[in-house]
Amino acid sequence: MRRHLLAVLAGVVVASFVGVAQSGEISSEADYDAAMKEVGATFRAVRSDMDARDGESVIAGTTKLTELFGQVEAFWEAHNVLAAAAFATQAGEAASAIRSAVENQAFQEIAPARDALAGACQACHNEYREPVDGGGYRIKPSVL
Ligand code: HEC
Repeated sequence: MRRHLLAVLAGVVVASFVGVAQSGEISSEADYDAAMKEVGATFRAVRSDMDARDGESVIAGTTKLTELFGQVEAFWEAHNVLAAAAFATQAGEAASAIRSAVENQAFQEIAPARDALAGACQACHNEYREPVDGGGYRIKPSVL
């Protein structure tokens, strides 16, 4: 019985990841959480690809971030939280700016764009994110 329940829960988790990846749409808080975990992992990878001077991987990672922030923006717009949507726009633009700087070999523009991106993460988290007891985060309940 217990094992069965675990299998069902695992299925739900997998389905919510697949949901984000396939539909390209964030339609629930579970989707949102999955998208943010993907954003976090991708930004971490982009930072180490920058350190390794791996331009192709930085381009791939920032392209993915731009797509993810497009979905994040649409989620906030759908909930009519326009200030949060604006942070998502800023984050997407900063990710695009990193990509352009690499593509154009304008290397002096990379660090400022990276800092702008990190600043957008931070600004949005300060306003809209709160820690959950026992680990992890959620959208502040008063917001939605
Ligand atoms: C538009 C607002 C917004 C922007 C921009 C944003 N986040 Fe988030 N993020 C949130 C909110 C709200 C949560 C809490 C919701 C959740 O985790 O379910 C969150 C949660 C997270 C989590 C925790 C997921 C978990 O529960 O373990 C990580 C990691 C994360 N964000 C990384 C980033 C990074 C890195 C960036 C920038 C590259 C970023 N976020 C930009 C709003 C944003």
